[in-house]
Amino acid sequence: MTLTIAFIVLCAINNLESVTPQEFPDGFMFGVASSAYQVEGGWNVSDKGENIWDHLTHSHPDSIADQSTGDIACDSYHKYKEDVALLKDLGVHYYRFSLSWSRILPNGYANFINPDGIRYYNELIDELIKNQIKPMITLYHWDLPVTLQTLGGWTNPILADIFVDYANVAFSHFGDRVPYWITFNTDCRGYDGDIIPPAFNQSGIANYLCGHVTIQAHAKTYRLYQSKFKTSQKGEIGIVSMGVTWYDEQTNSNEDVEAAERVRQFELGYYTNPLMGNGDYPSVVKERVAYRSMHEGFPKSRLPEFTPEEKAYIKGAYDFIAINIYTANLVSDAPEADYKNVRYHNDVKAQFSLDPSWKNTSAPWLKVVPDSIRKILNWFKNQYNNPKIIISENGCADSEDFDDHNRVMFHQQYLSEVLKAINEDQVNVLAYTAWSLLDNFEWNDGYTQKFGLFHVNFSDPNRARTPKLSARMYKQIIANRKLHLL
Ligand SMILES: *[C@@H]1O[C@H](CO)[C@@H](O)[C@H](O)[C@H]1NC(C)=O
Ligand SMILES: *[C@@H]1O[C@H](CO)[C@@H](O)[C@H](O)[C@H]1NC(C)=O
Ligand SMILES: *[C@@H]1O[C@H](CO)[C@@H](O)[C@H](O)[C@H]1NC(C)=O
Ligand SMILES: *[C@@H]1O[C@H](CO)[C@@H](O)[C@H](O)[C@H]1NC(C)=O
Repeated sequence: MTLTIAFIVLCAINNLESVTPQEFPDGFMFGVASSAYQVEGGWNVSDKGENIWDHLTHSHPDSIADQSTGDIACDSYHKYKEDVALLKDLGVHYYRFSLSWSRILPNGYANFINPDGIRYYNELIDELIKNQIKPMITLYHWDLPVTLQTLGGWTNPILADIFVDYANVAFSHFGDRVPYWITFNTDCRGYDGDIIPPAFNQSGIANYLCGHVTIQAHAKTYRLYQSKFKTSQKGEIGIVSMGVTWYDEQTNSNEDVEAAERVRQFELGYYTNPLMGNGDYPSVVKERVAYRSMHEGFPKSRLPEFTPEEKAYIKGAYDFIAINIYTANLVSDAPEADYKNVRYHNDVKAQFSLDPSWKNTSAPWLKVVPDSIRKILNWFKNQYNNPKIIISENGCADSEDFDDHNRVMFHQQYLSEVLKAINEDQVNVLAYTAWSLLDNFEWNDGYTQKFGLFHVNFSDPNRARTPKLSARMYKQIIANRKLHLL
């Protein structure tokens, strides 16, 4: 099999030999990503507390496509050395992974620090460093300790300070070896709908409270790092902007063009304008929520306000912006919805569709739209005066166990567009992160959707990992640092 794969890769490259390859700039970094709940397993070892994904998968198995859990997942809790060996073989410059909050602080609070949680991440970080791989650590990737959810989760303003306490523990124990921190893989959909935990289902209210507290938690964490750790640890801090989608107008009508930009401000600018813009939410978001709130009979806007002091510490609280990008949607304007229906979607006032010509993947939401990555990079460049950008996730769902040609093509096409954004549009892109290192627990899709460069045999108690064709392709791109544009 190894020979077959090598042969296919060589053929793919030879076919393109007529075109001049373009190089990635000096210092450009390649990485791969994972998140704690999706790969670690070890859900109940040595004092680890329960988080909201443990809770959901155990109490409502029907909300997961295959009724599975992350109890064992890829067993990276035990097999991290093997994971690092795969990373080493790929030649990646960094590994983006997340910390399990409830593994470090079992009840969410900083009064008890679990020694086994500290040991586990210290060993993972040390193993990475020993192999010349930089850790890029996400502090929060969706697995909130259940105790804190009971307090109302991210709708409760006290969570911002509780998060800062957790971040302080992480910086104190690990920060001496960590050059890149991502505070949040932001996502408040669990407060909007009834599927993703905590399934608050208070659209138009709870999701804005969640975002408001998340932004403040991020900003306070950034300020803490600057005052207490930056001088000695010299790391950089960013946040992932919500969403995985680029929004394009359906037609060139003024209504659709405006609707598409409105959606971008609601979905992308919502988190980044406070930090990278004027310290506040985008004006179209403020106007729309205030307008509908008034007609719905609310005494004031459902969108919370930042005080002047909050704006001052939020504005500028970032070193880089991180972007997860997979696909695109087409947007058209929607009629004003009935004021009886209080919903985020009605604030946005847009309809979404997919272009039937976009290539399918195994995930219904994920269509192959390579230029979406170039467009989103340019949008951030133009909105916020050319900030430093790390592409923190990009990847393809594909059901082939080993010969994942669709994924190979996906990464080559998207990376081509990244190169165009860098070389032709002068976007300040520092790094590209493939999602994901391993096939893993894909949230509500369980193990039914696979994104790994490495296959994981989930029927095997050893969770054997095997490189797919895409792992070999990625390794080659990292080694050559160039690509024939597609
Ligand atoms: C941990 O969970 C597993 C199921 O995943 C169970 O078999 C085991 O007994 C649990 N261990 C402890 C210490 O609770
Ligand atoms: C969530 O809210 C919507 C709209 O109010 C409602 O139709 C739906 O039944 C709710 N879901 C649950 C699980 O309560
Ligand atoms: C994607 O799948 C749908 C449904 O199976 C099919 O109708 C459509 O033609 C496919 N699109 C492409 C571009 O192949
Ligand atoms: C996965 O592991 C099981 C149990 O060890 C084995 O029977 C099966 O052949 C493996 N599948 C693959 C694709 O390697």
